[in-house]
Amino acid sequence: MPSDPAPDVFEVMHTMRAMRRLKPDPVPEELINKVLEAGVCAPSGQNLQRWSFLVVTDPAAKAFFAEKYDYWLKNRFADALATMDWSSPMGRVTRAAVHLAEHMHEVPVLLLCMGQRDWPFSVPAEARKGLAPPSYGSIYPCVQNILLACRALGLGASLTTMHQMFEPELHEYFGIPEGWGVVSVIPIGFPTGKFGPVTRTPARLKTHFNRWGGTRPGLAEPES
Ligand SMILES: Cc1cc2nc3c(=O)[nH]c(=O)nc-3n(C[C@H](O)[C@H](O)[C@H](O)COP(=O)(O)O)c2cc1C
Repeated sequence: MPSDPAPDVFEVMHTMRAMRRLKPDPVPEELINKVLEAGVCAPSGQNLQRWSFLVVTDPAAKAFFAEKYDYWLKNRFADALATMDWSSPMGRVTRAAVHLAEHMHEVPVLLLCMGQRDWPFSVPAEARKGLAPPSYGSIYPCVQNILLACRALGLGASLTTMHQMFEPELHEYFGIPEGWGVVSVIPIGFPTGKFGPVTRTPARLKTHFNRWGGTRPGLAEPES
């Protein structure tokens, strides 16, 4: 457990990078509980909190997930991987993503975040192709809280969605009811590297004032 006091909320947000290089050391369950309690502070439609979590530490289950994740990451991005400039910013991110895929089985905790399907709107069966998605808007605030809580506690984590390529197998393996969709799988562990500032375009370049294209120096200087 980190001995330093938790950084303030703005520092947490400004340094919450995807941490994909993680130590295999176990994460105390009380920290996972703390992270989940932060997650469920998030808002959801009508405050109905239609989320569920699956904490996976079982080596066989992690190996099952890791093998499929690694296969699908490399399959889905085969063309990009073959032509990647590994020295570019995208190359460095991709190298970390591949590292995570290849070491997923060693990550101490895989946290599956699920949302209920067919809520708040349900699509009639005859008008639907496949299963209805979960209400992502009601789950992602919770996912973000979880990521922020991990950062505040000194835990490395990242948001992943590659499981969507093999979600039916995930449901079968873990016994997840069909009425629940897996929104994100968050690998959690103590990071091997240091937290650092995120690289983002300044908000003022994405912001308009009073009308689209409207400017206000220092607040709204939208890129064309
Ligand atoms: C909807 C969504 C899906 C994502 N899926 C994956 C994923 O499957 N694997 C992965 O390694 N990162 C995934 N990411 C993480 C992004 O790549 C990461 O947040 C982004 O590159 C910014 O990284 P940074 O916070 O380290 O700057 C996903 C992020 C979002 C928001």
